Amino acid sequence: MKRTHHCAQLTPSDLHATVSLAGWVDSVRDHGGIIFVDLRDRQGITQVKFDTNLRAEAALLKAESVIAVTGKVELRPEAMMNKNLPTGQVELDASELVVHNISETPPFPLTDAGGDKVNEDLRLTYRYLDLRRPKMRKNLLTRHRATKAVRDYFDAQEFIEVETPALFKSTPEGAREYLVPSRIHPGEFYALSQSPQQFKQILMVAGVEKYFQIARCFRDEDLRSDRQMEFTQIDVEASFIDREGIYTLFEGMLKKVWQEVLQHDLPTPFPRLAYHDAMNRYGVDKPDTRFALELVDLSDTFKTSGFKVFASTIASGGCVKAFNAKGLADITQGEIGALEEIAKSLGAKGLAFIKVEAGEWKSPIVKFFSEAEKAALTQRLSIADGDIVFFAAATWDRACAILGRTRLEAAQLLVKRGRLTIRADQWNFLWVVDFPLMSYDEETKRYVATHHPFTAPVPEDAVLIDSDPKAVRGQHYDVVLNGMELGGGSIRIHQPTLQKKIFEDVLKIPADVVESRFGYMLKAFTYGAPPHGGIAFGLDRMVALLCGTTSIRDVIAFPKTQKAQDLMAQSPTPVTAKQLKDLHIQTVIPPQ
Ligand code: AMO
Ligand code: AMP
Repeated sequence: MKRTHHCAQLTPSDLHATVSLAGWVDSVRDHGGIIFVDLRDRQGITQVKFDTNLRAEAALLKAESVIAVTGKVELRPEAMMNKNLPTGQVELDASELVVHNISETPPFPLTDAGGDKVNEDLRLTYRYLDLRRPKMRKNLLTRHRATKAVRDYFDAQEFIEVETPALFKSTPEGAREYLVPSRIHPGEFYALSQSPQQFKQILMVAGVEKYFQIARCFRDEDLRSDRQMEFTQIDVEASFIDREGIYTLFEGMLKKVWQEVLQHDLPTPFPRLAYHDAMNRYGVDKPDTRFALELVDLSDTFKTSGFKVFASTIASGGCVKAFNAKGLADITQGEIGALEEIAKSLGAKGLAFIKVEAGEWKSPIVKFFSEAEKAALTQRLSIADGDIVFFAAATWDRACAILGRTRLEAAQLLVKRGRLTIRADQWNFLWVVDFPLMSYDEETKRYVATHHPFTAPVPEDAVLIDSDPKAVRGQHYDVVLNGMELGGGSIRIHQPTLQKKIFEDVLKIPADVVESRFGYMLKAFTYGAPPHGGIAFGLDRMVALLCGTTSIRDVIAFPKTQKAQDLMAQSPTPVTAKQLKDLHIQTVIPPQ
C-alpha cells in the first residue's frame, strides 16, 4: 500500500477521493460499533473510521502502532467537526488496513505536557519516543530551518563551505580534549577538534577568502544546560575583513535566521558594550540586558568609611560595588542564605545588604554609615521603600563576579513574585568588545590569552605588548543574547613574527614547544598570509533560544546527560582486551 497523502493534508476538497495514509496510531476510541483512530505522521493528524469488516482488527490496535490505511474521504457529521485541526472537517472511511507493527505501551505519555512531567533521564533513554512529542519534533524542524537559513545566507554572500578534519592534533592550551589513540603509530594520539580554528586560518592562507562550516566540535568539559561535549558551531573566517565587516556580516545572518524561523525583524546594528563597562554595570561579560538592576561602584563614597571592611578593602586596591534589587525587601531569610552561599562560593567574605521598610534602613552594617554616606547611597542607587541593596567589597574581578551572579538570582526572585517580567521573546543582542588581549593568571604567574593566542591586538595598543601586556585590548568580539554567549571571534594575527612573539615572549611557551605545536602554522604564514578574521557561533545555543528553551539538550537529537552518558545507546562502555592491545593501550581504573 503506497502512501498518497500526509496526515495534515485532507480537506473537504478531497471529498469522495480514495487515498492512502500511513503513520502512528495517536489514539483509538471505541464508539460502540465504530472504531475511530487518530492517525499521526510528521505533518499532522487525520481521523480514520473503521466500521463493520475492519472493526475487529482495528480494535486490536494500540497507541503508537504503525499502520497504513486506504479509504474514502468523507465529511464528518457537523457535531463531530473539529475546527482547530486542519483536517478536522473530514475523516477517512477505511476499506483496507495494513498493520506494520503493534507498539508496546510507551513508558510515558508522548504529549508535550506528559513528557515535561517525567525525569529527563527517562526521556533520553527512550529518545526515539521523546522525539515523537510535538514540541521536540518542532525543535528539530526549527534547527533544520535555522541551519538552512545560515547556509543560504553565506552562500549568497559568496562564502564556501569547507569541511575540516575532526581528527586533529593535541593542542593542550585550549579546553580539555578527547584523545584518540593511533593504531598505526604506537603511543601517539590524535585529538578531536575543539574547533576548526587553525584549519580555517590555514584556509585563508590557501586563498579561500570566504569560508564557513557547520562544524562539529568536541570538548571534554563539565556538562551543563548550555554545554555539551559534542556541539555544533557556525564557523566562519574571511580575508581582508575588519571588525566592522564582521559585525555587519553577522547582524545580517542573525536578521535572516530570525526572519526565516520566527518571521521577526531584528533591529540592527546591535548595541556595543566594552568589556569593562559590561563588567562594571552587570558584573559579567555576557550581560542579560532585558532588565536593569545595574551595579554601581561606590569606592569613592566608602574610601574613608567607618565600616572598616569597606574602607580597608578599598585601601588595599579593591572596590566596593552594590546594586539595588528594587522591590525585593520582602526577601526571606532562606533566600538571603542561599544568595550568601552563592556569593561565598565565588570567594565573597560576606554579602552585606540594606533593606528599606517603612522608611527604616534595616541592616547590621547601617550603624557604621555616616549621614553623608547614606545620602550618597540613596541618590546613587535610587533607594526607596521596599528595596534591598546588596554590597560586595573585594577585588574588582571578584566583586563583579559576586554581584553579577547575585543580580541574576535577585532578578529570578523578582520574577517569582511577579514584580519583574523577563520575556523569552525579547531579543537583546549586543556585541561585547574591547576585551583585554591577555589576562594574568595568579596561580601559574603567567599571561594567558583571554580568547585564544591567534587574536590580534587593537592596533593603537600594540606598542604596549612588551611593557604592559594587560593593558593591550584584543580585536576580539562576542555576540551576547539575553545573558548567553552565542558567539565569539576576532581579527587574527597574520604576521608570523608577531604570532611567534606572542607565543614565546608573552605567553612564555618554550620555542621548541611552539615549533612542535604551531610550527606548521607559522611556516604557512611566511607564504603570503592575508589579513583575516572570523567568528564561531554556538548553533545549539542559538537554536535553543529560538525554541524558547534554556537547555541545548532540547535541540540536539541525541545529547549526552550531565554525566556525559548516552542513556539510549548506553555509552561509554568498556572495550575488549584485544581492542586495547591493538591500540597499544593499558587502562588503570582508579579505586572507587
Ligand atoms: P569559542 O570557544 O568561544 O570560540 O566557541 C564559540 C562558540 O561555541 C559555543 N560553544 C559551545 N556550545 C555548546 N557546548 C559547548 N561545550 C560549547 N563551547 C563553545 C559558544 C561559543 O560562543 N575558534 C573560536 C572562534 C573564533 O575565534 O573564530 C572558538 O571556538 O556559543
Ligand atoms: P562583619 O563585620 O564581618 O560581621 O560583617 C558585617 C556584614 O558585612 C555581614 O553581613 C557580612 O556578610 C558583610 N560582609 C563582610 N565582608 C564583606 C565583604 N567583603 N563584602 C560585602 N559584605 C561583606
